[in-house]
Amino acid sequence: MFPTDRPRRLRTDGVRPLVSETALSASDLIAPVFVDATTDERVAIESMPGHERVPVSEAVDRVEEVLATGVEAVMVFGIPESKDEVGSRAYAEDGVVQRAVRDIAAETDAYVITDVCLCEYTDHGHCGVLEDEAADDPTLTVRNDETLELLSNTAVSHAEAGADMVAPSSMTDGMVGAIREGLDEAGFAEVPIMSYAVKYESAFYGPFRDAADGAPAFGDRRHYQMDPANRREALREARLDAEEGADVLMVKPGLPYLDIVRDVREHSDLPVAAYNVSGEYAMLHAAADRGWLDLEETAHESLLSMKRAGADLILTYFAEDIADRL
Ligand code: PBG
Repeated sequence: MFPTDRPRRLRTDGVRPLVSETALSASDLIAPVFVDATTDERVAIESMPGHERVPVSEAVDRVEEVLATGVEAVMVFGIPESKDEVGSRAYAEDGVVQRAVRDIAAETDAYVITDVCLCEYTDHGHCGVLEDEAADDPTLTVRNDETLELLSNTAVSHAEAGADMVAPSSMTDGMVGAIREGLDEAGFAEVPIMSYAVKYESAFYGPFRDAADGAPAFGDRRHYQMDPANRREALREARLDAEEGADVLMVKPGLPYLDIVRDVREHSDLPVAAYNVSGEYAMLHAAADRGWLDLEETAHESLLSMKRAGADLILTYFAEDIADRL
């Protein structure tokens, strides 16, 4: 008698759900939202179909739309009214994120997470304070230690506005420790930090940089974001951030880095987040537009795979569409 072992027995419609190993639910998802201080109207983001930059006056409406789908958490990104060398609108009390978060926290039940970075706020588009000669010398970019205080100030200003969680994304060494100290001193010991602990220098961020107007004016981010070739280094980044006080560790991007999601899951007891980034979203949309892929099926499969790899929570531009379907 051959075959004796028949896995197909467990694939009938009746039993498949019973033996399913992984489930995706709306409560795993975080929806990114873009708030733009330079506009009075919603502006469609061309490379991210279905997403818009909304004015501060519509931040609450935008979040209500997310909540209506069953997604309960949002990640707020800001596009400031002006930019300067040190990204001062990132930590201004009346900055775009601070104003939006104040409204969202007061008027909705959303769990509000904020992206803590300077790249949307600096006129050079890098994620921190620049070395003097950086524009002329490609080996120079961000001054690590001078950037820490600005990140900490940004995180504290978000917490003061009512953010439930802060998510530093600049890959500055020591950022989690500096932000933890800043939050604790300001009386926000209960505000958790989700660190973009393992963030690669990835070409998959292209559409986001259009959306948030955060592309570097010169050079790239390889001096602070991780080399896509590296795996052991990811564990080192994750361990350092955990030691500095991170509450959640994120791996970014998602789909091309599922091995890293699995590694971090196995080496840490903290919750692991995966960021299904803008390029992953744009890819599926572009293929679906041509009729080459089914958008909802491939989106669902992508997110399910992130959970299977070990992610507990997922940041995704598909959050609303998938939650609606679940
Ligand atoms: C800010 C930030 C970026 C993303 C999230 N936070 C851009 C970058 O690092 O270039 C990318 C998100 C995406 O592509 O969806 N530093």
